[in-house]
Amino acid sequence: MSVSTAAADRSVCAPLPVLGRDVLVPLVTGGEAVYAALDYAASAPALQRVWDDVAAYAPYYGSVHRGAGYLSQLSTDLFENARRTVADFLGCRAEDQVVFTRSTTDSLNLLATALPQGTRVFVFETEHHASLLPWEHRADLKVTYLDAPRTPRQAVDTLEKALAAREPYGPALLCVTGASNVTGELWPVRELAAAAHAHGARIVLDAAQLAPHHPVDLADLDVDWVAFSGHKLYAPFGAGVLAGRADWLRAAEPYLAGGGASRKVARRTDGGVDVEWHESAARHEAGSPNVIGAYAIASACKALTEAGWDTLVARERELIARVQEGLSDIPEVRVLSLFGDDAPRVGVLSFVVDGWNSSHFAAALSAEYGIGVRDGLFCAHPLVRTLLGSAPQAQGECGAPEAAPGERSLNAIRVSFGAGTPDEHVDRFLRAVRELVSDGARWNYRVEDGRCVPARSAV
Ligand SMILES: Cc1ncc(COP(=O)(O)O)c(C=O)c1O
Repeated sequence: MSVSTAAADRSVCAPLPVLGRDVLVPLVTGGEAVYAALDYAASAPALQRVWDDVAAYAPYYGSVHRGAGYLSQLSTDLFENARRTVADFLGCRAEDQVVFTRSTTDSLNLLATALPQGTRVFVFETEHHASLLPWEHRADLKVTYLDAPRTPRQAVDTLEKALAAREPYGPALLCVTGASNVTGELWPVRELAAAAHAHGARIVLDAAQLAPHHPVDLADLDVDWVAFSGHKLYAPFGAGVLAGRADWLRAAEPYLAGGGASRKVARRTDGGVDVEWHESAARHEAGSPNVIGAYAIASACKALTEAGWDTLVARERELIARVQEGLSDIPEVRVLSLFGDDAPRVGVLSFVVDGWNSSHFAAALSAEYGIGVRDGLFCAHPLVRTLLGSAPQAQGECGAPEAAPGERSLNAIRVSFGAGTPDEHVDRFLRAVRELVSDGARWNYRVEDGRCVPARSAV
């Protein structure tokens, strides 16, 4: 697979420059197209600013928290400054901790290990698997799966009812997404937090899809923890964040045992070892930390803040309206929604096309138009099945289709965009959807390893 570039065209330049904006990809029908990355919900392209900041820091890279040398000291400072930048970005309270992790999945698994014994966990069935599953790993946690609500009000009512039905003592936690990775719809986080707290429960916000599109303020939303991933926040260097209340984190066994998490280790006279663990965020950051990842996240936080959320949100709203309007003009397209077409959302929309297998459609968008979207069940199988009305036995593996080209789809197609998306990408996407629906694919496709891929010949 070869990669070539074209000079960046100012007319398609987005408000925030991202890497890859001038990458050319081959088309099966001949020629090349500038790649239209419309899969931000999976991984967003790196902001140019993040890349430049990381490149400027790279020569000064050194070990963190463990070296006497100048570059180690500098790297330790940058790592701890990154923690403060993230705390500011998230509106953390003075006593909150910011723990650097690998991703949202890692953050929520960390929190799951840190919950007090016997915690009751409440989670809507509509969640991404990263929010749905980590609680299953501990046999002592009692998990209640809440039915998919059809309005934000119903979500709050459902939670209140479930919390009221539990024994009125013992620790409890609600884990909820801020913006759905399937529909992009915003969840009533503030109201859910108030309901949770009114019933003595805590709340962790899965902001994997919210934080890249919308300001997130822990103190203002009154949530106890927030988790997000760098790679969805334009900082693809393998780091994530869990931020929030220190008490349960401090009381928990370290997530990983090892250097960095331990303050003092000594042999006991009986032959064993005594360990004194850190009480700071370092308790859950054993091993050499990902300083580049943390630095990149901090750089992205600064870039988004400096660009201004009002501007970013307003521009994204324009793009969302354009996509919604364009798709609504195509009768064969059905956009998936829990809360209704007018519900506020971020730049993430899933849809199905009458008579099309979603994998086939997504493959044609890529191969014939140079557009990258995602198809499948988006690691939110229960939600997508509810929205599609399809049976559990129809399930494919995460992202894998189960029907051949031309067969009716039991999966969906997701288009997602953000701060780096030029208008042209959205316009090309809408044109491609219209053309594929009216004229069909111009190429033949076959199934390989469960995915539709271009065959050797044109239609
Ligand atoms: C809402 C939501 N939560 C959690 C995750 C998991 O994120 P990661 O794969 O970075 O751990 C995703 C990823 O798509 C997501 O969309």
